Order: sequence, then C-alpha cells, then structure tokens
Amino acid sequence: MDLTLEVIETERLLLVLADLKFANEIFKNFNSETTKYMYPKPANDISETIDFLSNSILEMKKGTNYQVIITKKDTHEFIGCAGLHDLTSEIPELGIWIKKESFGNKYGQETIKGIVNWAVKQNKWNKARYPVDKRNISSRKIPESLNGIIVKEFKSINMSNVELDEVEYEVSLEKDFA
Ligand SMILES: CC(C)(COP(=O)(O)OP(=O)(O)OC[C@H]1O[C@@H](n2cnc3c(N)ncnc32)[C@H](O)[C@@H]1OP(=O)(O)O)[C@@H](O)C(=O)NCCC(=O)NCCS
Repeated sequence: MDLTLEVIETERLLLVLADLKFANEIFKNFNSETTKYMYPKPANDISETIDFLSNSILEMKKGTNYQVIITKKDTHEFIGCAGLHDLTSEIPELGIWIKKESFGNKYGQETIKGIVNWAVKQNKWNKARYPVDKRNISSRKIPESLNGIIVKEFKSINMSNVELDEVEYEVSLEKDFA
C-alpha cells in the first residue's frame, strides 16, 4: 500500500515509528492497570514485547499497520503507544495507551488527533473505528473530541479473560481537525 509513514509532530509530542529501542519502556509500563479496558494483556516476558515491535515493524514495511511510539517533544520521554491498524481494510482501527504517570495531560487526545490528521492526508479512507469500553471515560473523550459517533455496541472477552462492554465510535477522515 502506498503510504507515507512518517514522524508526526503535534503541539507537545513527537509520534515516532515503532522501534526495538523502546522495548524496555513498553514492557515496564504496559501493566494490568493500563490494560484494564483493553483487549491485549501485559507481556509476561520482554521477548513478547520484542515480538510485538518486530511484527509492527514488518507490518509497517508491508503497509498494513502504522504503529507509533508517543514521546515528549522537548525531553524525548517515552509516553506510550498508538497507531492506526488494519490499513488495508475500508475502516482502519485507532488504538492507544499511555503510561499511568502521564495521565491527566490529554496526551491521548493530542496523539489521536495527530494520527487522524495524518490519515486524512493519506486520502485513502473515509473513516476510522475507535472501539472502547463504556466505563473507560478518558478514552471515550478521545473520539468524542473528534465528533465521533457511536455505530455499534458489543461485549467481548479480552486476553485477561475479562468481559469488556464496548461501544464503537467512527471518526470521519474526510477533513482534518485544527
Ligand atoms: C485512554 C487514555 C489514552 C486517555 O488519555 P488522555 O487523553 O491523555 O486522558 P486524560 O488522562 O488527560 O483525561 C482526559 C479526560 O478524561 C477525564 N477522566 C480521566 N479519568 C476519568 C475517570 N476515571 N472518570 C471520569 N473522567 C475521567 C479527565 O478529567 C479529562 O477530562 P476533560 O477532557 O473533560 O478535561 C489513557 O487514559 C490510557 O492510556 N488508558 C489506559 C489504556 C486504555 O484504556 N487505552 C484505550 C483503549 S480504548
């Protein structure tokens, strides 16, 4: 797929392409508190994190995934991970997590807005999906801040064997967000 996979710069953040050098930070911060409302579970061993990064890098080469690491522009501090996945499907999926000590700064909203604006520029999709557990208020605020609309509701079981009670938002990719 013909895409420009590039570093995204937002007001406070640099979203850089997935790289093995972030394995330690990801392994350390992707814990059960972070994944409470997510499908994946924390890695038991850093080799799983390395596999995740290696796969992401391979998928980016194939143009099927856009996986970024969120860093602070001024200090280069690791903040979390985000991406736009299933790039060959008609409606790709947005995903994000942020390390707990960085909650409360709306870095999540800023990151997803940056990715959405990147996706608008690619001119390949009309919309993106954002599935989220109903109880995950800070996460629901992300698609809502981009005028997302709820298109379905469903229950699923995550990798930690916990039931998620999800809504799925669709966010328009037809024009960018200031
Ligand atoms: C979801 C996530 C990325 C949001 O990050 P963020 O945009 O930086 O969010 P913030 O912590 O700055 O909070 C944003 C808003 O949610 C509100 N909020 C946060 N926790 C809340 C809670 N428990 N109840 C109600 N509101 C809450 C904040 O007050 C803030 O509100 P405002 O925008 O009206 O001022 C981050 O919380 C996260 O990584 N969570 C763990 C992983 C996860 O669940 N990922 C998403 C899967 S769909």
